Amino acid sequence: MEKTYSIKEVSNIFNITTNKIRFYEKKGLIKPKRDFENAYRYFTEDDLIKLQTILMYRELDIPIENIKDIFIDESKDNILNHFHVQWEVINNQIHRMQLIKDSLEEIMDNIYESESEAYKEKTIKIIKSMNDLWQIKNQWKDKWDFNSWARTYDKSVEKHSGSLNFYKYYNGILDTVYEKSVKNKENTINVLEIGVGTGNLANRFLQGQYDIIGIDQSREMLNVAKEKFPELKLRLGEFLNIPFGNGKFDVIVSTYAFHHLNEKEKKIAIKEMIRVLKDNGRIVIGDLMFENQEAKEKIISRLTKEEIEEIEDEYYSNIQSLKDEFKRYSKDLQITRMDELVFIIEVN
Ligand SMILES: C[S@@+](CC[C@H](N)C(=O)[O-])C[C@H]1O[C@@H](n2cnc3c(N)ncnc32)[C@H](O)[C@@H]1O
Repeated sequence: MEKTYSIKEVSNIFNITTNKIRFYEKKGLIKPKRDFENAYRYFTEDDLIKLQTILMYRELDIPIENIKDIFIDESKDNILNHFHVQWEVINNQIHRMQLIKDSLEEIMDNIYESESEAYKEKTIKIIKSMNDLWQIKNQWKDKWDFNSWARTYDKSVEKHSGSLNFYKYYNGILDTVYEKSVKNKENTINVLEIGVGTGNLANRFLQGQYDIIGIDQSREMLNVAKEKFPELKLRLGEFLNIPFGNGKFDVIVSTYAFHHLNEKEKKIAIKEMIRVLKDNGRIVIGDLMFENQEAKEKIISRLTKEEIEEIEDEYYSNIQSLKDEFKRYSKDLQITRMDELVFIIEVN
């Protein structure tokens, strides 16, 4: 006969209250057998395994409803999806907490240093700017729907789709970004790629035996990259809330992704990249850019209405503004023009 356990025994095994066990039962996560005569619950070995899984997932702060969904669909895809969601939730909490912590520091310093009541006004200002920053960090939306582009992305790159033809030198651009980032560096360095897409640039680092991890905001892009390059490490993540600690990477690379951020977002993304970069680290970005406002106007004056619309649907960088922004972190920029609209910037 199958061994069963009473609720008291289960509570002792896991060192949790009987109320907690009843709560999980009420939520439909476990369904112990009931004795019709005395209404006692009997837990099987399977119930115990399930309860252990619930407790484990709760340690990761996964919500009850999500655990329920994992039990309904135990496919690898669904489980991974929930872990990705949780990874994002926790990453956002870390970023939010860090912002609050930084603001508290600023407020406390300000109170110490203020001789009058002036600190009150300054405190309000600090909190307001913290909220504004959080809004920008949290509001970025994928209005291009990269998830639905993921499966056909490589093909459309091959065809240089779009009238501006900026994928014409795609492979050469990726090769150059790779060469510039590893120049004078050992292959023991840590590399981060942001907006990894289907993994074409990351694969160059894999071939060179580099330790690379790619992040992308699109789950479907990550799926395609993983299918193509099973050994590639990938995480859900984005420019504005990079899901890693400070000073972790020797090199950060990105191609054809940075122009999905507007001017304000670019500044935050630069701050984020500098945060996760080691002191003597290097950033190499290959992307759609203009040298400055004057160059932009000159190019635009030669384009068709449709081409201008294509450019204005995104946020091509102004290299002069990037230079100014990186200078704030004592970083220099070297520029290589690859095409009329594609530049590579190397930040050291
Ligand atoms: C045009 S694709 C380029 C993919 C790849 N880097 C390449 O060169 O083929 C742009 C990629 O950047 C990602 N992306 C766009 N905005 C992003 C953001 N804010 N954070 C992270 N990834 C982003 C998209 O999901 C997409 O995978």
